[in-house]
Amino acid sequence: MNESKLHDLVRNMTLEEKAAQMSQVVSSFIDDKSGEGKITGPFAGMEVAKEDMSGSGSVLGASGADDLRALQKEYLGKSRLGIPLLFMADVIHGYKTVFPVPLALGCTWDPDAVEESAAIAAKESAAAGLHVTFSPMVDLVRDPRWGRVMETTGEDPYLNGVFARAFVRGYQGDNLENDESKLAACVKHFAAYGAPEGGRDYNTVDMSERQLREYYLPAYEAALDEGAEMVMTAFNTVEGIPATSNKWLMRDLLRKEMGFNGVLISDWGAVQEAIPHGVAADNREAALKAVTAGVDIEMMTPCYVQHLKTLVEEDVVAEELLDEAVLRILQLKNRLGLFENPYRGADSSLEEKLTLSEEHRKAARETAAKSCVLLKNEGALPLKKEQNVALIGPFAESTDLMGPWSIFGSEDDVVTIAAGIGEKLGTRPTVEKGSDIEVVSSQELEVAVEAAKQADVVVMALGEHSEMSGEAGSRTNIKLPEAQLKLAAELKKLGKPLVTVLFNGRPLDLHGVIEESDAVLEAWYPGTEGGHAVADLLFGDTNPSGKLTMSFPDNVGQVPVYYNSFNTGRPKDQIAPEDRFASKYLDAPNEPLFPFGFGLSYTTFTYSGLALSSEIMEENGTIWVSVDVTNTGTAAGEETVQLYVRDLVGEVVRPVKELKGFRKIHLEPGETKQVVFEVDEESLKYHHSDLTCTCDPGDFTLSVGPDSRNTDELRFSYQPRGRQ
Ligand code: GLC
Repeated sequence: MNESKLHDLVRNMTLEEKAAQMSQVVSSFIDDKSGEGKITGPFAGMEVAKEDMSGSGSVLGASGADDLRALQKEYLGKSRLGIPLLFMADVIHGYKTVFPVPLALGCTWDPDAVEESAAIAAKESAAAGLHVTFSPMVDLVRDPRWGRVMETTGEDPYLNGVFARAFVRGYQGDNLENDESKLAACVKHFAAYGAPEGGRDYNTVDMSERQLREYYLPAYEAALDEGAEMVMTAFNTVEGIPATSNKWLMRDLLRKEMGFNGVLISDWGAVQEAIPHGVAADNREAALKAVTAGVDIEMMTPCYVQHLKTLVEEDVVAEELLDEAVLRILQLKNRLGLFENPYRGADSSLEEKLTLSEEHRKAARETAAKSCVLLKNEGALPLKKEQNVALIGPFAESTDLMGPWSIFGSEDDVVTIAAGIGEKLGTRPTVEKGSDIEVVSSQELEVAVEAAKQADVVVMALGEHSEMSGEAGSRTNIKLPEAQLKLAAELKKLGKPLVTVLFNGRPLDLHGVIEESDAVLEAWYPGTEGGHAVADLLFGDTNPSGKLTMSFPDNVGQVPVYYNSFNTGRPKDQIAPEDRFASKYLDAPNEPLFPFGFGLSYTTFTYSGLALSSEIMEENGTIWVSVDVTNTGTAAGEETVQLYVRDLVGEVVRPVKELKGFRKIHLEPGETKQVVFEVDEESLKYHHSDLTCTCDPGDFTLSVGPDSRNTDELRFSYQPRGRQ
C-alpha cells in the first residue's frame, strides 16, 4: 500500500481503533478458538477484560501456520478498515530447531554462524506465520547473578555490537517486504536492563549517562544501524525514571539522536508498571506517560485502550501522538506486505518441511559445537572410542538442554548427551543420574559410584535446571548445587580420569568441580542438537574453539568482575604485595577464575612476530598490527586471535583493555598464518566528560593474544597534526 493511503487510513480511524492498534495481547483475547499463546510474564490477576482487547492490532506468543491464518481471517472479517494483525513472539535462539542460548552463541566468535542461526529461526517461524521476533536481546552484562545473562552475548560492547548486527541480518535479510522467509527483528531491552542492582531481575538500574553511552548503548546502536525494525522498552529505571515512561530516553535519545523511527513496544506490562514503580497513580497516568514517551504499542496491559480516547478528548494528549504511533505500526505492517497478503509466508506444509529439517539440525549441531568452551584439559580429552565410559549426573539423559527461552522448542526433539555418546560408541554407555539437580540420595549416589568403578573414564554431566536462569532466574549463590558437588567429590575418590560437562545459563563459581576434574567443557544450553555436539567434542571429531564472552568469577563476592575494568589509583599489581593499601581483597584474588576471551583447544597455538606498521598514528591515519600464529600441536584447530587497545592517559579513566578486533582462523598442525588488524581513530574514541565521543593525542598500547589475559603488547602514539 502506498504511503498516502496509510495516512488516509489513519485519518479514517476512530480514537478507539487507534488505541486498539496500539495494544498487544496473547491470542486468546482476540478469539476464543485459538490457544492462549506462550505466557512469558505475570498473567494471573491481570485485570485485562476481553472486550477491552479484542480489537488489539497485534498478538504475541501464538504460532502455527493454520492457527494464525484462521486467526487473521477471523480478525479481518470483523475489522472495519481491514487492517491485518501482526504476529510477534520470542524466537530468541531458534524456533523448533533450537540453537544454543545467545551467551553460548557469542562464545563461537563466529558472526556468520550466528547470522545463519537467526536466518534458520526466521525461516521456520515465518512458515509458522510469525512476522516479528523479540530478538536480539543486546543488553551488556557484568553480573552472573542475573538470570538473563544467558540471553545476551556478554560483557563487551564491541562484540555485542558485532553479534547484534549478525542477528538482525539473519532475521531480516535485505528485502524484508518480499522475502517471506524473514522476520522483523525487535531489539531489546532499551535500555541497560542488564545492569540491575544486586543482579536481581527487574531491580533498579542507576548509572551515569556517560557509562550508558560508553558501554550499554553501542549494541543497540549497531542493531538499529543494521536496520532493526522494532525496539522493546526495558522494565528498569534509567536515571530514576522507568524506561517505558522515560521521555528523554525514548524521544530525545532513541528517536531524535539515534534516529529510530520504527515501532517501539513496551515489555510485558511495563506501561502499567509505572504504578508500582511509583511514577503513575493509575492506568490513566501510566498511559499518559508512555504515549508521551513515544511508546507505540502497549504489551498485555489495558492502559491505552482504557484511557487514550479520553486523554485526547480532554485535550491532555494531542491526537497527533496517537496518529504518529499508529502510522508507524501501519508502516511496519506495510513493510511486511501484510496489506497485500495478510497471510504472508504462513504455510503449514512448508512449516512441516522446514522445522527440524536435517539441514537445520546439522547447522544447530555444528554451531553448538563451536559454542562450547574447553575450560580445562589435563589429558583426559579427547576420549577414545575404546574407552569404557561411565556417564554420570543429572544431565546425563536430560532433555533440558534448550535453556529457559526456547518456548517453541520441544524436549522430545532434543538429542541427549547419553544418546550422543551412545551413537559415537555404537553402544549405550553406562549411565546413572547419581543425583538430581538440587537433591541427592545416598542410595542413588551409591549406585552411581558403583557403576563408575567399572569405567576407564567418568564423564559427569552437571549444571543448572533451565528454570535456574533466564527471566526472573536470579541467584545469589552461583555455585553448582551442593548435591552435585557431593556427587563430584564421591566420584573423585575413585581416582579415575574425571571429565565434567556443564549445562548452565550463567558463569558459575566452579570451585568444587574445577579442581576435582581433569577436564571441564562448558556446554551452556546447547539446544536441540546438544547431545550430538557435545559427543563430537568429547571424542575429538570436532576440536573445541569456543571462547568466553563473559568472565567466570572466582567467587560471587567479586561480582561485578569484567575484563575491561579501570586500573584504579591503587592497582594491586603496581603496589608491593606486602603493602596493605592496594585495591584488593583479603580473602580472594582480584582476577576472575576464567577471563573474557578464554577457551582451550585440543591443540596449542603460539603467537610471534607482533609488529606495528608504524609507532605513530597521524590524524585520519591507520596503523596495521600483524602477528604470526602457529599451530604447534598435532590436531587441526581454530583459534580466535584477539586485538585489544589501551589508552594510557585519557580525559576520563580508561579501561586496562578494550576489544577492538578479532579473527577466527583455522590452522592445520604445524601451519602458521599471519593475522593483520587495521587500527584507526574509530578504535581510539570514547565518551568524554562532556559526552562527546572523540579521541585524544597520546600513547596507546595494542595487545594481541588468545584471550584478554595472555597478550603481547606494543606501544604507539596517536599524533594528529597541531594537537599535542
Ligand atoms: C518478557 C520479556 C521480554 C519478552 C516479552 C514478551 O517479560 O522481558 O524479553 O520479549 O516478555 O514475551
